[in-house]
Amino acid sequence: MTYQDTVRPLHWTESGLEVLDQRLLPDQISYEVFDSAAGVAEAIRSMRVRGAPAIGIAAAYGVALAAKSRYQAAPARWREGLEQDMTILAAARPTAVNLFWALERMKEAMARISGNPYPKLLSLARQIHADDLAANRSMGEMGADLLEGSSGVLTHCNTGSLATGGYGTALGVVRSAYRRGVTNIYAGETRPWLQGARLTAWELNQDRIHATLIADSAAAWLMKSGAVQWVIVGADRIAANGDAANKIGTYALAVLARQHGVRFMVVAPTSTIDWHTPTGEDITIEQRAPGELLPDCYQAHDSVITAWNPVFDVTPAHLIDAIVTERGVVLNPSLEMMQAICK
Ligand code: MRU
Repeated sequence: MTYQDTVRPLHWTESGLEVLDQRLLPDQISYEVFDSAAGVAEAIRSMRVRGAPAIGIAAAYGVALAAKSRYQAAPARWREGLEQDMTILAAARPTAVNLFWALERMKEAMARISGNPYPKLLSLARQIHADDLAANRSMGEMGADLLEGSSGVLTHCNTGSLATGGYGTALGVVRSAYRRGVTNIYAGETRPWLQGARLTAWELNQDRIHATLIADSAAAWLMKSGAVQWVIVGADRIAANGDAANKIGTYALAVLARQHGVRFMVVAPTSTIDWHTPTGEDITIEQRAPGELLPDCYQAHDSVITAWNPVFDVTPAHLIDAIVTERGVVLNPSLEMMQAICK
């Protein structure tokens, strides 16, 4: 099968993890190499790399890099140092559970290692990276099956190759559907960080996939026009009952979709499901600096204007028609359906 999928946010190199700086897109394509866990944590915190699966993959490589330097420095005591480095990685961003999932997998592998941990941990990081791409391709096909008879879709944020190991989650479904003839693709600009306008539009343009950008505030009117039959989004954390945390604005789209008879699909690998979190009420929502939202003039010391900047929200399961994972599709999600298909 040919895939229109040329962009990659992360490359493993001899010198470390090469990261495409997503803060600079679409104006500048700039890669930077990070060779320590602290460096990778900073790349995640600063959003050079973002998107739940890509954050998890980067963290796994961060652990491998830390294992290399800790073993070189103290071959008999590498575990203590590495655990400290993992704490720094875990603190980089709070909402995307893929970060903690990847760290947990690396930790389980560490427990079985004797001798130099670097080769084994690097090989596991590479495996996590490759598995993510494979999962996305299979979710793309399963999600596209659900779109039978549809002509238009709306997506939010960036859930594409830039946010993952490649192909994308929700944008992977869009890619697969586009290949099958669903050609009216709408992308919301995704304020305030503009993942839709800056990143989704850029990566679709790179792959020559035609799309139409809308202001987030145009979504209701778009749905009322009848141009889209599905909203397709990713997730940063899915609670055991199917409530899904995703980029701020997702909940608003789900409410609008229900009002207009538009169906709502969440696409995420099972590494995004947090079985320890019973419902969306228990999900930590990241608040970022007001400065990401405030115009410069209100950042002066004498300004009385501030900003409330939650960067995720939670869509309750009852507003979701389907959750697509690499293990299968959960229709009308509930705890029972999630456990039956994804566990
Ligand atoms: O703040 P970001 O850009 O990391 O947020 C990304 C999202 O909310 C995505 O929709 C989510 O991580 C799914 S990405 C495949």
